[in-house]
Parts: sequence; structure tokens; C-alpha cells
Amino acid sequence: MSKRTIVTMPGDGIGKVVLPATLRVLDKVGFEADYVHADIGWEFWCKEGNPLPDRTIDLLAKHKIGLFGAITSKPKAETVKELDPSLLDKGLVYYSPIVAMRQKFNLDICIRPCRSFANNPLNFIRRGPGDTIEEPMVDTVIFRQNTEGLYGGVEWTDPPKNVLDALNSHPKFKNFADTPPAELAVSTRIFTQKACDRIVGGAFEYAKKFGYKSVTICEKPNVIRETSGMMLATGYRIQKDYPGIEVWNTNIDAQMMWLTKNPEDYGVIVAGNMFGDIVSDGFAGLVGGLGFACSANIGEEVAVFEPTHGSAPKYEHLDPSIVNPIAMVLSACMMLDHIGETEKAEKIRTAIAEVVKEGKVRSYDMLKLRGGPDALNQGAVSTDKMADAIIEKL
Ligand code: NAI
Ligand code: MG
Repeated sequence: MSKRTIVTMPGDGIGKVVLPATLRVLDKVGFEADYVHADIGWEFWCKEGNPLPDRTIDLLAKHKIGLFGAITSKPKAETVKELDPSLLDKGLVYYSPIVAMRQKFNLDICIRPCRSFANNPLNFIRRGPGDTIEEPMVDTVIFRQNTEGLYGGVEWTDPPKNVLDALNSHPKFKNFADTPPAELAVSTRIFTQKACDRIVGGAFEYAKKFGYKSVTICEKPNVIRETSGMMLATGYRIQKDYPGIEVWNTNIDAQMMWLTKNPEDYGVIVAGNMFGDIVSDGFAGLVGGLGFACSANIGEEVAVFEPTHGSAPKYEHLDPSIVNPIAMVLSACMMLDHIGETEKAEKIRTAIAEVVKEGKVRSYDMLKLRGGPDALNQGAVSTDKMADAIIEKL
């Protein structure tokens, strides 16, 4: 097989630390690739007035696969303060390069696997019968629709007249008709059949490939009849092509209540943008949180793999770095799965599982320590030492 080209985007803060550590792991497992660096993040907003330069978009369009660390975003007032003085008065407005990347390449499928590693001190535990303690092994993969729904950005405060007219045509709008428009805020929840087909279809394919027995549509179709209803109907229709896999239907509120009751029962879960955001953070919390939370953003052509965490500015200048690289390494495993290198991905996941199980090498988050230089004196290992431990197992 010819060598792959992977676009590496470390971004800001700890993205610059966890990405290089991850490349060492990929190297050790024998994954051969050409890596091309691409600029993204706060630094390029400040220097060029653009956090996602066109050259980065071009590289992604050309090579299709991106490994991304994290970026820093700051409140509006600070975006202007840190801009290079020569760029002031050009009317530049900061935007999130992640959202822009998702929109530019229509990365509509977000996958967030949440799997417990045995002997991870951060695993969720609960009381069992009598005085027993249960530690359920969670193995749930959330498929979140990444581009539509409540985060689609179609919203108004003080809606224009044509929007009000449209709203007034709906009988249920009677309850709001007397509210002065200036006191009215409207955010729409738009679902398309195409996106529902892609996210649900992707979820069933994943369940088949990795042996999950159920796909749960986690929405609220009893109340949000049109959009949640479309997702659920899509689930029932697509399930017919996957006779070995059951389709389950849960409501997002009940699902969050069951989160701590029986998380081990769920395989693949599909949800719209906001519910997917909520349910995936919930499940990630059961299996170790930000140090373990990996993700993939997959479009029809381009796919970008990234840890869920941000740039953790608190630790940006800590040398050696103490942050846990596992979330980034697991994101790289998702990349390997995506390009058909599942065996190498499994090898890395097994190596991580061995390190966690053995318990000799722990990052500060796993030891529940306060982050800071002192963590290393208290038994935590650095980012690089954690990567070394994984590499040693390989
Ligand atoms: P964050 O995820 O950067 O960090 C929050 C805290 O989580 C850290 O202070 C640290 O205690 C812990 N943490 C994060 N990653 C960790 C790791 N690998 N190992 C161990 N502990 C870890 O979120 P925060 O502080 O809300 O945002 C910081 C910056 O990152 C902001 O500018 C924000 O806009 C940006 N951000 C970027 C994201 C991305 O690039 N996808 C996602 C979330 C935030
Ligand atoms: Mg989130």
C-alpha cells in the first residue's frame, strides 16, 4: 500500500505536546506516513487575522485526513486586543476554526467512543447489592450529528417580519403572538433526511464492523415530533438492512438518568447535535474524562481526528508537560480504523489497556492530583513518559 499523507495540526497550547507524543506511538506501531504540518489556531489569528488559513484548508482538501490537537479561543474583547496592530481596522472578526473546518468540509458525523480501561482509577463505580461496589465496563460509542439541529446557527432575536409571518402561520405560535418581537428569541432545530441517513447509516455500519448488538436512537420524539421523529424513523428504516443489530429508542432526559444506572447496556448511540454533545460528555465522564476522550469528525471526503479536550492554557508552559496524551493517541487510533489499519489501532489500544491495568505509570489526572509542576513529585508521570510507557508495550 502506498504511503499515506496525514495533515498534522497541533494548534495551540497542549495540542503542541500531545500530537508529537502521538506521532511517536504511531511510528512505533509501524504506521508509515508522510506528515505535513498545517497551521491553525490562536497564533494565526493574532499574526494573520485568520485562525484557519487557506493553506491549511488546501492541505486538508488535498490529503483528506487530518490529525488535530487543540486550539485556544478567547472572548470577543480579547480577540481584537491580541491582533497584530497592522491588522486592526481591517474589520476582521474571529471565528472558531473548528466550527469552520466542520462547515467547510461538511464533517457531519462526529464519533466519540467511550470505553472503560480496566483498573483506571477514574472509572465510574456504583453501589451494588449489600456492601458491594460495582465497576461497570462501559463500551459505548456516540454518533453525534455535527452540523445541523440546534447548533446550525439559524436563529434570531427580534426576528424580521417575514420570519414572524412564517411563525404566525403555525397554530402553536398563538401562545407567543402577543410577545413584542424585540422580546422574542428564536433558535431553530433543522434536521435533513440526508444527514439523518448519514449519521444513522454510519452508526449501523460501525456497529456491524465492531460487533455492537444495538444502536440506540437517543432523541425526544414524543415531544419534538418532527426532528426527533425523523431521526427515529430513519433508525427503524435503516435497521432493516442490519438484521443482527437491534434498534433501541431512548429519550435524552431518561438516557442521562440511566447514565449511572446501566451505562454498560448501551452499544452505539445516535443523537442530533445538541443531545449528542450532552450524552457524549456524560459517557466520557464515566470512563476517565478529558484525558481519555477521543473523537472523529467525518465527512464524505475529509476526516479530522482530535481529542475532545482544549488547549489547557494552564499547562501550556509547563516543562515537562504533565497532560495525559491518551485522548490524542486514541483519536489517532480512530484515524487508523478509518483508513483500514484497524489491526494497528487495536495494537495501540491494547498497549494503552496494559499500561492502565498495570497501574505503574499514571498521569496526574489519573492520580486525581492538582495539576502543576508538583504533580511529578507526587508520583505522576510527564506526557512523554506516558507515551514512552505505551511505546514500550508495543
Ligand atoms: P480544556 O479542555 O483546555 O481544559 C480544561 C481542563 O481539563 C484543564 O485545565 C485540565 O485540568 C484538564 N485537561 C484537559 N486536557 C487534559 C489532558 N489531556 N490531560 C489531563 N487533563 C486535561 O478546556 P478549557 O480550559 O475550558 O479551555 C481552554 C481553551 O481551549 C479555551 O481557549 C477553549 O476555547 C479551548 N477549547 C478548545 C477545544 C478544541 O480545540 N477542540 C475544546 C475545548 C476548549
Ligand atoms: Mg462539548
